[in-house]
Amino acid sequence: MRQPPHSIQVRLLYVSHAVGPQTTTMTSSILLQAHQHNPTQGISGVLCQGQGLFFQVLEGERSRVNALYRRICADKRHRDVEVLHYEEITERRFGQWSMALVRLSVDDPKVQMQDPDFDPYSASGGQVMQQVMNLLETGQPIQMTVP
Ligand SMILES: Cc1cc2nc3c(=O)[nH]c(=O)nc-3n(C[C@H](O)[C@H](O)[C@H](O)COP(=O)(O)O)c2cc1C
Repeated sequence: MRQPPHSIQVRLLYVSHAVGPQTTTMTSSILLQAHQHNPTQGISGVLCQGQGLFFQVLEGERSRVNALYRRICADKRHRDVEVLHYEEITERRFGQWSMALVRLSVDDPKVQMQDPDFDPYSASGGQVMQQVMNLLETGQPIQMTVP
């Protein structure tokens, strides 16, 4: 049977450059917004931040993910927001988190992007998605679920 259009689920991955330093205050405020808003929209995901970059995966119903992405693009706390990967999904990878946070620390080899010359803006979206998955597994995600 044909599914109604609103049941199409997608996963979107983007990268962006932080504007200014990535302070704890900035992160807390982003996560607060995510934890307040995402559950009401059935959106889950992970935010990786550090080294002046954000990577974020958003999963959920297509029009809701697209709408959130538009709001995020307009946010002045980052720039050069660029979609790296967009796919229709039947299963979520980050369903347990309204927005998990992974810090990309320069000091912790576990959570570094493996290749020092790694440029997310020219890398394949599939590869970056794999990196994000690895980070989530090895990088001790914090700020988990809000019911
Ligand atoms: C890197 C980054 C990630 C963000 N992630 C989310 C998110 O997952 N959910 C959310 O509601 N807002 C997120 N925001 C905040 C939105 O950009 C926006 O400020 C917030 O949704 C409030 O939008 P409004 O002022 O139009 O209501 C994020 C912002 C940044 C800079």
